[in-house]
Amino acid sequence: MKKLCILGATGSIGTQTIDVIKREQPDFMLHSFSSNRNSRKTMELISEFRPKYVAMMDETAFNEVRACCKEKKYGTEVLYGMEGLNAIASMEEVDMVVTSVVGMVGLSPTMHAIKAGKDIALANKETLVVAGELIMKEAKKRSVKILPVDSEHGAVFQCLQGNDRKAAADLLLTASGGPFRGRHSDELQEVTVEEALRHPKWNMGKKISIDSATLMNKGLEVIEAHWLFDFDYDNIKVIIHPQSIIHSMVEYVDGSVIAQLSNPDMRLPIQYALNYPERKTSVIGKLNFYELKSLTFERPDMDTFRCLELAYAAGRAGGTMPAIMNAANEAAVALFLNKKIGFLDIQKIIEKCMEKFTSGKDFSIDDVILLDREVKEYVFKTNEA
Ligand SMILES: NC(=O)c1ccc[n+]([C@@H]2O[C@H](COP(=O)([O-])OP(=O)(O)OC[C@H]3O[C@@H](n4cnc5c(N)ncnc54)[C@H](OP(=O)(O)O)[C@@H]3O)[C@@H](O)[C@H]2O)c1
Repeated sequence: MKKLCILGATGSIGTQTIDVIKREQPDFMLHSFSSNRNSRKTMELISEFRPKYVAMMDETAFNEVRACCKEKKYGTEVLYGMEGLNAIASMEEVDMVVTSVVGMVGLSPTMHAIKAGKDIALANKETLVVAGELIMKEAKKRSVKILPVDSEHGAVFQCLQGNDRKAAADLLLTASGGPFRGRHSDELQEVTVEEALRHPKWNMGKKISIDSATLMNKGLEVIEAHWLFDFDYDNIKVIIHPQSIIHSMVEYVDGSVIAQLSNPDMRLPIQYALNYPERKTSVIGKLNFYELKSLTFERPDMDTFRCLELAYAAGRAGGTMPAIMNAANEAAVALFLNKKIGFLDIQKIIEKCMEKFTSGKDFSIDDVILLDREVKEYVFKTNEA
């Protein structure tokens, strides 16, 4: 039995991870998990799984859940804040940590988990974007496996299995194109938060849904792929594939392209990461090729969706530039979700921050955390009315 710690168990990936482990009983045990402020869902999970520990980020929700656990005598110890997340991610009994918190907040607990020698099922792409070099170096040093949960990276990971890595020429990351595919800038001026959240293929958390609409999600994934698979940016290509059936591909030097296909359902890459290298019976509906009418491909429109180009630029610049870009994006997306700025302001804010802040070369995790705070404060100060 594998003992899991899920960081962000109440979110979209967290909930789907719970679904996978429920179907695969008794192979997995939920040892511990974290959430932010969703005390109702946190209590439901505690009541069902009776984990040993839970960590919560929001103080009010933490107090509420702790009191409730005491009253009901659940035996779950409730911890608070970043210290709590770091603690549950590195506990002795845990075999694997699923990182499904959203945003750069995942960095510290992921690093704690790696230092404690835990294998990581990684959904939290922001962690690799802001500190990919430090994370991968530490994982290598401790022989820790970083197993991708993102569907594109899960696909690339599968397409690389059993082949000579040196013969792999290009990574071809697919993208649905989001809800605004095919539109030009003048048609994006007035789009609403509700429209931007309406993803055509995936049902995801709010932040990644907006990232998908701006194509920043694909940009973050390009940087994530660079660190996970050690490919140059020139060899990571993005292809718009609106049907979201091919989750990504690897092109080899002889011209062969190996692709991974399935119905769009995150439970497949989650299941693969949890069980790697074993393949378990499908938890999702199988593809019906007789009903698939067409698979189409387009070049991404980087003039309209500037975020993708900005992410390539940040990745190529290296140092702390991806962290600057990520912080600006997280702050801008929060402002957009709160209806303080327009959709196209997101890319303008990111570009401005990448010009204003200077990228550093030698940096630590603490430097990245400080820089993240500084950039976000700047964005909020200059854009909040
Ligand atoms: N959703 C997908 O299909 C998908 C696919 C590929 C990759 N990813 C990546 O997976 C990660 C999670 O995405 P998601 O869509 O699952 O997000 P989500 O639904 O918004 O869930 C986020 C989780 O993180 C917790 N959280 C939020 N803010 C936090 C904070 N400040 N401190 C600690 N915990 C916090 C939330 O707790 P509360 O519920 O208590 O607020 C929740 O458990 C992201 O990095 C995303 O890019 C997601």
